[in-house]
Amino acid sequence: MSPGQGNQDDDLSYTAAAIGAAGHPGGAPLRIGIIGVGGISRAHHDSYRGAGAEVVALADPDALNLRARAARWGVERRYSDFRAMFADGDVDAVSICAPTAVHAPATLAAAASGVHVLCEKPIALDLAQGRTMIEACRAAGVVFMVNHQLRSHGAADLAKRMLERGELGDVTHVRLRQAHDWAGASEVRPSFSTRASSGGGTLLDNGCHLMDLARFFGKDVDEVYARTATRKFAVELEDTAHVSLRFASGALGTVEVAWTATGWEEGFWIYGTQGALEYTNRSGTPVLRHAFRHSPGTTWGDTDVSEHRFTGVPPHARHIRAFLAAIRGERPVVCSGEDGLEAVRLVFAAYESAERNAPVLVREAPTTLPG
Ligand SMILES: NC(=O)c1ccc[n+]([C@@H]2O[C@H](COP(=O)([O-])OP(=O)(O)OC[C@H]3O[C@@H](n4cnc5c(N)ncnc54)[C@H](O)[C@@H]3O)[C@@H](O)[C@H]2O)c1
Repeated sequence: MSPGQGNQDDDLSYTAAAIGAAGHPGGAPLRIGIIGVGGISRAHHDSYRGAGAEVVALADPDALNLRARAARWGVERRYSDFRAMFADGDVDAVSICAPTAVHAPATLAAAASGVHVLCEKPIALDLAQGRTMIEACRAAGVVFMVNHQLRSHGAADLAKRMLERGELGDVTHVRLRQAHDWAGASEVRPSFSTRASSGGGTLLDNGCHLMDLARFFGKDVDEVYARTATRKFAVELEDTAHVSLRFASGALGTVEVAWTATGWEEGFWIYGTQGALEYTNRSGTPVLRHAFRHSPGTTWGDTDVSEHRFTGVPPHARHIRAFLAAIRGERPVVCSGEDGLEAVRLVFAAYESAERNAPVLVREAPTTLPG
Protein backbone atom coordinates (compact mmCIF):
# COMPACT_ATOMS: atom_id res chain seq x y z
CA MET A 1 0.00 0.00 0.00
CA SER A 2 2.85 2.36 -0.76
CA PRO A 3 2.07 5.64 -2.45
CA GLY A 4 2.93 4.38 -5.91
CA GLN A 5 0.98 1.19 -5.76
CA GLY A 6 -2.08 0.45 -7.79
CA ASN A 7 -5.60 -0.02 -6.74
CA GLN A 8 -8.82 -1.54 -7.96
CA ASP A 9 -12.56 -1.05 -7.92
CA ASP A 10 -13.69 1.57 -10.32
CA ASP A 11 -17.12 2.42 -8.99
CA LEU A 12 -15.86 6.04 -8.92
CA SER A 13 -13.88 6.01 -12.14
CA TYR A 14 -11.56 8.66 -13.57
CA THR A 15 -13.83 9.43 -16.47
CA ALA A 16 -14.84 12.78 -17.92
CA ALA A 17 -18.26 12.27 -16.36
CA ALA A 18 -16.74 11.69 -12.94
CA ILE A 19 -14.56 14.77 -13.31
CA GLY A 20 -17.59 16.90 -14.11
CA ALA A 21 -19.31 15.51 -11.05
CA ALA A 22 -16.34 16.43 -8.84
CA GLY A 23 -17.70 19.87 -8.21
CA HIS A 24 -20.74 21.98 -7.51
CA PRO A 25 -24.13 20.96 -8.84
CA GLY A 26 -23.75 23.67 -11.51
CA GLY A 27 -20.64 21.93 -12.82
CA ALA A 28 -17.90 24.17 -11.37
CA PRO A 29 -15.15 22.12 -9.74
CA LEU A 30 -14.77 22.10 -5.97
CA ARG A 31 -12.14 24.62 -4.82
CA ILE A 32 -9.49 23.13 -2.58
CA GLY A 33 -6.98 24.68 -0.17
CA ILE A 34 -3.96 22.75 1.07
CA ILE A 35 -2.57 23.64 4.49
CA GLY A 36 1.04 22.51 4.76
CA VAL A 37 2.86 21.86 1.48
CA GLY A 38 5.55 19.42 2.63
CA GLY A 39 6.04 15.75 1.79
CA ILE A 40 2.51 14.35 1.86
CA SER A 41 0.82 17.36 0.27
CA ARG A 42 1.83 16.20 -3.19
CA ALA A 43 -0.31 13.08 -2.94
CA HIS A 44 -3.26 15.30 -1.99
CA HIS A 45 -2.61 17.83 -4.75
CA ASP A 46 -2.18 15.21 -7.47
CA SER A 47 -5.24 13.31 -6.29
CA TYR A 48 -7.48 16.40 -6.33
CA ARG A 49 -6.24 17.32 -9.79
CA GLY A 50 -6.81 13.77 -10.98
CA ALA A 51 -10.35 13.85 -9.63
CA GLY A 52 -11.19 17.13 -11.36
CA ALA A 53 -11.21 19.36 -8.28
CA GLU A 54 -9.28 22.63 -8.43
CA VAL A 55 -6.48 23.40 -5.98
CA VAL A 56 -6.86 27.18 -5.59
CA ALA A 57 -4.90 28.09 -2.43
CA LEU A 58 -1.87 26.94 -0.44
CA ALA A 59 -0.86 27.89 3.11
CA ASP A 60 2.53 27.25 4.72
CA PRO A 61 4.82 29.43 6.87
CA ASP A 62 7.86 28.08 5.00
CA ALA A 63 8.14 30.76 2.29
CA LEU A 64 10.60 28.87 0.10
CA ASN A 65 8.61 25.67 0.08
CA LEU A 66 5.39 27.59 -0.49
CA ARG A 67 6.78 29.47 -3.46
CA ALA A 68 8.21 26.32 -5.02
CA ARG A 69 4.98 24.36 -4.67
CA ALA A 70 2.84 27.26 -5.90
CA ALA A 71 5.02 27.67 -8.97
CA ARG A 72 5.12 23.96 -9.74
CA TRP A 73 1.38 23.51 -9.27
CA GLY A 74 0.34 26.82 -10.82
CA VAL A 75 -1.54 28.00 -7.72
CA GLU A 76 -1.82 31.77 -7.37
CA ARG A 77 -3.23 32.19 -3.88
CA ARG A 78 -0.56 31.51 -1.24
CA TYR A 79 -0.59 32.30 2.45
CA SER A 80 1.91 32.14 5.27
CA ASP A 81 -1.02 31.75 7.70
CA PHE A 82 -4.03 29.53 6.96
CA ARG A 83 -6.30 32.01 8.79
CA ALA A 84 -5.75 34.53 6.00
CA MET A 85 -6.77 31.89 3.46
CA PHE A 86 -10.07 31.30 5.26
CA ALA A 87 -10.59 35.07 5.63
CA ASP A 88 -10.31 35.45 1.84
CA GLY A 89 -12.94 32.73 1.29
CA ASP A 90 -13.65 30.94 -2.00
CA VAL A 91 -12.42 27.59 -0.70
CA ASP A 92 -14.88 24.67 -0.42
CA ALA A 93 -12.60 22.15 1.26
CA VAL A 94 -9.11 21.83 2.69
CA SER A 95 -6.57 19.10 3.12
CA ILE A 96 -4.67 19.61 6.35
CA CYS A 97 -1.15 18.33 5.60
CA ALA A 98 0.69 20.34 8.26
CA PRO A 99 2.39 18.74 11.29
CA THR A 100 0.01 17.10 13.74
CA ALA A 101 0.05 19.99 16.23
CA VAL A 102 -1.56 22.15 13.53
CA HIS A 103 -4.43 19.73 12.79
CA ALA A 104 -6.72 21.07 15.53
CA PRO A 105 -6.34 24.84 14.99
CA ALA A 106 -6.63 24.40 11.22
CA THR A 107 -9.71 22.17 11.53
CA LEU A 108 -11.42 24.60 13.91
CA ALA A 109 -10.66 27.50 11.56
CA ALA A 110 -12.05 25.54 8.60
CA ALA A 111 -15.23 24.63 10.48
CA ALA A 112 -15.72 28.26 11.52
CA SER A 113 -15.58 29.18 7.81
CA GLY A 114 -17.93 26.38 6.68
CA VAL A 115 -15.13 24.55 4.85
CA HIS A 116 -14.98 20.73 4.57
CA VAL A 117 -11.91 19.04 6.06
CA LEU A 118 -9.71 16.12 5.08
CA CYS A 119 -7.29 15.91 8.02
CA GLU A 120 -4.01 14.02 7.88
CA LYS A 121 -3.33 11.38 10.49
CA PRO A 122 -2.94 11.26 13.42
CA ILE A 123 -6.03 13.36 13.95
CA ALA A 124 -4.66 14.84 17.21
CA LEU A 125 -2.43 14.02 20.16
CA ASP A 126 -5.15 14.62 22.71
CA LEU A 127 -8.46 12.77 22.55
CA ALA A 128 -10.44 15.71 23.96
CA GLN A 129 -8.93 17.97 21.32
CA GLY A 130 -9.84 15.46 18.61
CA ARG A 131 -13.38 15.34 19.96
CA THR A 132 -13.54 19.16 19.77
CA MET A 133 -12.50 19.00 16.10
CA ILE A 134 -15.22 16.46 15.34
CA GLU A 135 -17.89 18.45 17.19
CA ALA A 136 -16.90 21.72 15.52
CA CYS A 137 -17.26 20.15 12.07
CA ARG A 138 -20.53 18.50 13.01
CA ALA A 139 -21.95 21.77 14.36
CA ALA A 140 -20.84 23.61 11.21
CA GLY A 141 -22.36 20.91 8.97
CA VAL A 142 -19.10 20.26 7.14
CA VAL A 143 -17.63 16.91 6.19
CA PHE A 144 -14.73 15.77 8.35
CA MET A 145 -12.66 12.83 7.17
CA VAL A 146 -9.33 11.49 8.41
CA ASN A 147 -6.65 10.48 5.94
CA HIS A 148 -6.16 6.85 6.91
CA GLN A 149 -5.94 6.12 3.20
CA LEU A 150 -5.08 2.43 3.66
CA ARG A 151 -8.82 1.85 4.08
CA SER A 152 -9.12 2.93 0.44
CA HIS A 153 -6.48 0.52 -0.82
CA GLY A 154 -8.06 -1.95 -3.22
CA ALA A 155 -6.76 -4.92 -1.24
CA ALA A 156 -8.06 -3.59 2.08
CA ASP A 157 -11.37 -2.62 0.54
CA LEU A 158 -11.85 -6.07 -0.99
CA ALA A 159 -10.77 -7.75 2.26
CA LYS A 160 -13.33 -5.71 4.16
CA ARG A 161 -16.09 -6.69 1.75
CA MET A 162 -15.10 -10.38 1.96
CA LEU A 163 -15.17 -10.15 5.76
CA GLU A 164 -18.59 -8.53 5.69
CA ARG A 165 -19.89 -11.26 3.38
CA GLY A 166 -18.63 -13.84 5.88
CA GLU A 167 -16.28 -15.45 3.33
CA LEU A 168 -13.53 -15.92 5.93
CA GLY A 169 -15.83 -17.14 8.71
CA ASP A 170 -14.95 -15.68 12.11
CA VAL A 171 -11.69 -13.74 12.34
CA THR A 172 -9.20 -15.59 14.53
CA HIS A 173 -6.13 -13.36 14.13
CA VAL A 174 -4.79 -10.44 12.13
CA ARG A 175 -1.21 -9.39 11.42
CA LEU A 176 -0.46 -5.88 10.15
CA ARG A 177 2.89 -4.56 9.03
CA GLN A 178 4.22 -1.18 7.82
CA ALA A 179 7.96 -0.70 7.87
CA HIS A 180 10.44 1.48 5.98
CA ASP A 181 13.87 3.06 6.19
CA TRP A 182 13.26 6.71 5.27
CA ALA A 183 14.35 5.81 1.75
CA GLY A 184 17.83 4.94 3.01
CA ALA A 185 18.39 8.37 4.59
CA SER A 186 20.81 8.56 7.48
CA GLU A 187 18.46 10.82 9.44
CA VAL A 188 14.77 10.93 10.17
CA ARG A 189 12.97 13.86 8.48
CA PRO A 190 13.21 16.81 10.94
CA SER A 191 9.47 17.26 11.57
CA PHE A 192 9.30 13.57 12.56
CA SER A 193 12.44 13.39 14.65
CA THR A 194 11.53 15.15 17.89
CA ARG A 195 8.79 14.54 20.40
CA ALA A 196 7.91 18.24 20.33
CA SER A 197 7.25 18.22 16.59
CA SER A 198 5.70 14.82 15.95
CA GLY A 199 4.62 13.52 19.36
CA GLY A 200 5.89 10.00 18.75
CA GLY A 201 8.01 7.74 16.57
CA THR A 202 7.07 4.91 14.26
CA LEU A 203 4.40 3.63 16.67
CA LEU A 204 2.49 6.88 16.20
CA ASP A 205 3.51 7.61 12.62
CA ASN A 206 2.94 4.19 11.05
CA GLY A 207 1.14 2.60 13.97
CA CYS A 208 -1.91 4.85 13.84
CA HIS A 209 -2.53 3.68 10.24
CA LEU A 210 -2.31 0.05 11.32
CA MET A 211 -4.42 0.54 14.44
CA ASP A 212 -7.05 1.99 12.14
CA LEU A 213 -6.73 -0.97 9.78
CA ALA A 214 -6.96 -3.35 12.75
CA ARG A 215 -10.32 -1.83 13.66
CA PHE A 216 -11.37 -1.77 9.98
CA PHE A 217 -10.85 -5.54 9.78
CA GLY A 218 -11.38 -6.77 13.33
CA LYS A 219 -13.58 -4.09 14.94
CA ASP A 220 -13.02 -2.97 18.54
CA VAL A 221 -9.79 -3.74 20.36
CA ASP A 222 -9.98 -3.99 24.13
CA GLU A 223 -6.40 -4.72 25.23
CA VAL A 224 -2.89 -4.07 23.92
CA TYR A 225 0.60 -5.17 24.93
CA ALA A 226 3.47 -3.28 23.29
CA ARG A 227 7.24 -3.17 23.10
CA THR A 228 9.20 -0.29 21.58
CA ALA A 229 12.89 0.17 20.79
CA THR A 230 15.27 2.73 19.30
CA ARG A 231 17.73 0.71 17.23
CA LYS A 232 19.03 2.75 14.34
CA PHE A 233 18.40 6.49 14.34
CA ALA A 234 19.68 9.13 16.76
CA VAL A 235 16.19 10.22 17.78
CA GLU A 236 14.49 10.61 21.13
CA LEU A 237 11.64 8.45 19.85
CA GLU A 238 11.15 4.76 19.08
CA ASP A 239 12.12 3.62 15.58
CA THR A 240 10.82 0.04 16.01
CA ALA A 241 7.70 -1.31 17.75
CA HIS A 242 5.55 -4.42 18.09
CA VAL A 243 2.07 -4.47 19.58
CA SER A 244 -0.10 -7.44 20.47
CA LEU A 245 -3.86 -6.75 20.29
CA ARG A 246 -6.84 -8.51 21.80
CA PHE A 247 -10.05 -7.69 19.97
CA ALA A 248 -13.39 -7.46 21.77
CA SER A 249 -14.44 -10.49 19.68
CA GLY A 250 -11.66 -12.54 21.32
CA ALA A 251 -9.54 -12.55 18.13
CA LEU A 252 -5.86 -11.64 18.38
CA GLY A 253 -3.76 -9.20 16.37
CA THR A 254 -0.18 -8.12 15.83
CA VAL A 255 1.00 -4.72 14.67
CA GLU A 256 4.60 -4.42 13.48
CA VAL A 257 6.01 -0.98 12.61
CA ALA A 258 9.54 0.23 11.97
CA TRP A 259 11.70 2.97 10.53
CA THR A 260 14.48 0.36 10.66
CA ALA A 261 13.42 -1.89 7.78
CA THR A 262 14.77 -1.77 4.23
CA GLY A 263 12.65 -0.27 1.50
CA TRP A 264 8.92 0.16 1.97
CA GLU A 265 7.17 -2.89 3.38
CA GLU A 266 3.46 -3.08 3.75
CA GLY A 267 1.19 -5.99 4.34
CA PHE A 268 -1.72 -7.51 6.14
CA TRP A 269 -2.70 -11.05 6.91
CA ILE A 270 -6.24 -11.89 8.06
CA TYR A 271 -7.02 -15.40 9.27
CA GLY A 272 -10.56 -16.68 9.71
CA THR A 273 -12.18 -19.99 10.51
CA GLN A 274 -13.03 -20.45 6.78
CA GLY A 275 -10.01 -18.98 5.03
CA ALA A 276 -7.11 -16.54 5.03
CA LEU A 277 -6.19 -13.34 3.20
CA GLU A 278 -2.53 -12.52 2.66
CA TYR A 279 -1.33 -9.23 1.20
CA THR A 280 2.22 -7.96 0.92
CA ASN A 281 4.08 -5.64 -1.42
CA ARG A 282 7.39 -7.48 -0.88
CA SER A 283 7.31 -10.15 -3.55
CA GLY A 284 6.99 -8.60 -6.98
CA THR A 285 3.59 -7.30 -8.04
CA PRO A 286 1.45 -6.93 -4.91
CA VAL A 287 -1.23 -9.58 -4.78
CA LEU A 288 -4.01 -10.33 -2.33
CA ARG A 289 -4.11 -14.10 -1.93
CA HIS A 290 -7.23 -15.77 -0.63
CA ALA A 291 -6.44 -19.24 0.70
CA PHE A 292 -9.34 -21.58 1.37
CA ARG A 293 -10.21 -25.30 1.31
CA HIS A 294 -12.92 -26.28 -1.12
CA SER A 295 -11.21 -29.06 -3.05
CA PRO A 296 -11.18 -32.45 -1.32
CA GLY A 297 -7.86 -34.24 -0.83
CA THR A 298 -5.56 -31.22 -0.56
CA THR A 299 -2.48 -31.43 1.67
CA TRP A 300 -1.15 -29.38 4.60
CA GLY A 301 0.70 -27.04 2.25
CA ASP A 302 -1.62 -26.95 -0.76
CA THR A 303 -4.76 -24.94 -0.29
CA ASP A 304 -7.11 -23.63 -2.90
CA VAL A 305 -6.09 -20.08 -3.76
CA SER A 306 -7.55 -17.14 -5.61
CA GLU A 307 -5.40 -14.12 -6.33
CA HIS A 308 -6.36 -10.49 -6.82
CA ARG A 309 -4.13 -7.81 -8.36
CA PHE A 310 -4.84 -4.13 -8.02
CA THR A 311 -4.11 -1.73 -10.81
CA GLY A 312 -5.25 1.80 -11.53
CA VAL A 313 -6.06 4.50 -9.03
CA PRO A 314 -3.81 4.40 -5.94
CA PRO A 315 -5.05 4.61 -2.32
CA HIS A 316 -4.53 8.34 -1.74
CA ALA A 317 -6.39 9.13 -4.94
CA ARG A 318 -9.23 6.77 -4.07
CA HIS A 319 -9.45 8.24 -0.58
CA ILE A 320 -9.65 11.77 -1.95
CA ARG A 321 -12.27 10.77 -4.48
CA ALA A 322 -14.24 9.31 -1.59
CA PHE A 323 -13.84 12.62 0.31
CA LEU A 324 -15.18 14.56 -2.69
CA ALA A 325 -18.05 12.08 -2.99
CA ALA A 326 -18.86 12.59 0.71
CA ILE A 327 -18.94 16.37 0.16
CA ARG A 328 -21.37 15.82 -2.71
CA GLY A 329 -23.49 13.71 -0.37
CA GLU A 330 -23.04 10.55 -2.43
CA ARG A 331 -21.61 8.35 0.32
CA PRO A 332 -20.58 8.42 3.99
CA VAL A 333 -16.95 9.24 4.77
CA VAL A 334 -14.61 6.26 4.56
CA CYS A 335 -12.82 7.20 7.77
CA SER A 336 -14.66 9.37 10.28
CA GLY A 337 -13.23 11.60 12.98
CA GLU A 338 -14.25 8.96 15.50
CA ASP A 339 -12.27 6.35 13.57
CA GLY A 340 -9.24 8.65 13.62
CA LEU A 341 -9.69 9.15 17.35
CA GLU A 342 -9.93 5.41 18.10
CA ALA A 343 -6.71 4.75 16.16
CA VAL A 344 -4.93 7.32 18.31
CA ARG A 345 -6.47 5.88 21.48
CA LEU A 346 -4.94 2.49 20.62
CA VAL A 347 -1.54 4.10 20.03
CA PHE A 348 -1.74 5.85 23.43
CA ALA A 349 -2.64 2.52 25.04
CA ALA A 350 0.36 0.92 23.31
CA TYR A 351 2.77 3.62 24.55
CA GLU A 352 1.40 3.17 28.06
CA SER A 353 1.86 -0.60 27.79
CA ALA A 354 5.46 -0.26 26.55
CA GLU A 355 6.20 2.13 29.40
CA ARG A 356 4.74 -0.22 32.01
CA ASN A 357 5.83 -3.42 30.24
CA ALA A 358 2.36 -4.77 30.90
CA PRO A 359 -0.92 -5.26 29.03
CA VAL A 360 -3.20 -2.20 29.08
CA LEU A 361 -6.98 -2.17 28.78
CA VAL A 362 -7.88 0.32 26.08
CA ARG A 363 -10.70 1.81 28.16
CA GLU A 364 -8.11 2.65 30.85
CA ALA A 365 -5.54 4.13 28.45
CA PRO A 366 -4.33 7.74 28.82
CA THR A 367 -6.26 10.26 26.78
CA THR A 368 -3.19 12.25 25.79
CA LEU A 369 0.18 11.16 24.52
CA PRO A 370 1.99 9.69 27.54
CA GLY A 371 5.35 11.22 28.49
N1 LIG B 1 -1.39 9.54 5.31
C1 LIG B 1 -0.10 9.27 5.19
O1 LIG B 1 0.30 8.21 4.74
C2 LIG B 1 0.90 10.29 5.66
C3 LIG B 1 2.22 10.23 5.19
C4 LIG B 1 3.12 11.22 5.63
C5 LIG B 1 2.71 12.19 6.52
N2 LIG B 1 1.42 12.19 6.98
C6 LIG B 1 0.97 13.23 7.94
O2 LIG B 1 0.91 14.49 7.24
C7 LIG B 1 1.34 15.54 8.10
C8 LIG B 1 2.51 16.26 7.44
O3 LIG B 1 3.54 15.33 7.19
P1 LIG B 1 4.66 15.59 6.06
O4 LIG B 1 5.38 14.31 5.91
O5 LIG B 1 4.08 16.22 4.86
O6 LIG B 1 5.59 16.64 6.84
P2 LIG B 1 6.60 17.70 6.23
O7 LIG B 1 7.47 18.11 7.35
O8 LIG B 1 7.22 17.20 4.98
O9 LIG B 1 5.67 18.94 5.82
C9 LIG B 1 4.91 19.68 6.74
C10 LIG B 1 4.68 21.06 6.14
O10 LIG B 1 3.77 21.77 7.00
C11 LIG B 1 4.25 23.10 7.11
N3 LIG B 1 3.68 23.75 8.29
C12 LIG B 1 4.20 23.85 9.55
N4 LIG B 1 3.38 24.60 10.32
C13 LIG B 1 2.35 24.99 9.53
C14 LIG B 1 1.21 25.79 9.75
N5 LIG B 1 0.93 26.35 10.94
N6 LIG B 1 0.35 26.01 8.72
C15 LIG B 1 0.60 25.46 7.50
N7 LIG B 1 1.68 24.68 7.24
C16 LIG B 1 2.54 24.45 8.25
C17 LIG B 1 5.76 22.98 7.12
O11 LIG B 1 6.39 24.20 6.81
C18 LIG B 1 5.96 21.91 6.04
O12 LIG B 1 6.07 22.47 4.76
C19 LIG B 1 1.66 14.90 9.46
O13 LIG B 1 0.55 14.98 10.32
C20 LIG B 1 1.93 13.44 9.09
O14 LIG B 1 1.66 12.54 10.16
C21 LIG B 1 0.52 11.27 6.55
